[in-house]
Amino acid sequence: MSKPLITIERFLLSQQPEYAKGDLTTLFYDLALGAKIIAMQTRRGAFLNNLGYEDTTNVQGERQRKLDVSADETIYKLNDHTGRLCAMVSEEREDWIRIPDNFSKGHYVLVYDPLDGSSNIDSNVTIGTIFGVFRALDEEKRGRIEDCLQPGRNLVAAGYIIYGTSTMFVYSAGHGVHAFTLDPEIGEFLLTHENMRFPENPTYYSMNYGAYPSWSPGVKKFGDWLQSTQQPRLSSRYIGSLVADFHRNMLYGGIYAYPADVKSPNGKIRLLYEAGPMAFLAEQAGGYGSTGVKAMLDTQPDHIHQRTPVFLGNRSLVEKAEEFIREDHKG
Ligand code: AHG
Ligand code: MN
Ligand code: MN
Repeated sequence: MSKPLITIERFLLSQQPEYAKGDLTTLFYDLALGAKIIAMQTRRGAFLNNLGYEDTTNVQGERQRKLDVSADETIYKLNDHTGRLCAMVSEEREDWIRIPDNFSKGHYVLVYDPLDGSSNIDSNVTIGTIFGVFRALDEEKRGRIEDCLQPGRNLVAAGYIIYGTSTMFVYSAGHGVHAFTLDPEIGEFLLTHENMRFPENPTYYSMNYGAYPSWSPGVKKFGDWLQSTQQPRLSSRYIGSLVADFHRNMLYGGIYAYPADVKSPNGKIRLLYEAGPMAFLAEQAGGYGSTGVKAMLDTQPDHIHQRTPVFLGNRSLVEKAEEFIREDHKG
């Protein structure tokens, strides 16, 4: 007998307990709609004049590409008025985002990287969107910065959308990681991967070895260990889109790392809306996420655009990275 076709809507409803079949479920619907809109903007890139740069830089001093800005607008506009959120944080906006006073507020906080892997946009290489959802610390109040600055351990849900050879929506609400593939003919996300887990034996490592000369001694040793010590040997794959590198490594086993280096002592990846949500997914898939020193999910953000070194993937490999990096912190 052939397998049933399960839409994302049906799956979400079947997963949520009765009391939760409300705001969180509908927030996911809106994110799935955002995924379709951004996938369309991505696919039609050049025709919509969507490639290249805006004249602006974001708060991290990075030049904004047109798709960074339009993806941010898409997610913002789908979520500001729904009454489900009390605050948002976007990579592309300097301050945390208040829900306009003319709209009612909800209990959740949405943190997001609208377009991850921006440097890959104009060369037709896989990019993504990352999101995380927290519950407000005080549900009575309108959103506050404290509601945004929560450690990943408090995430209610997290996920990413991957714009690759197909578009996929991958999420966890704390009961495993599930993935849906967009059937572009019918415009629906259909369940294709239930309960994704890192395979026990890893296959890949993903690190930008171009930065090797700037790595600390511990990171260098870890980089060398990945290349030489493993039996059977791991292969190197590095796309330069965290979403794409993580997704492949979750399917085949492996590690994605963006360590600190002498030029960026806190690394490049942002804790709140990139590393935290991905570490939540890693743990939900039987893996682990670390700063190199401790669990990513136990790291309290002090400001919304804080950066952190990142190690994500099979627990055995991430713990090995911690072993080497701890040496850097000894005396
Ligand atoms: P973003 O496009 O949201 O700024 O993030 C890009 C990140 C991450 O996705 C990727 O792994 C990394 O930057 C690539 O950086 P390098 O080019 O320095 O390797
Ligand atoms: Mn990113
Ligand atoms: Mn981005």
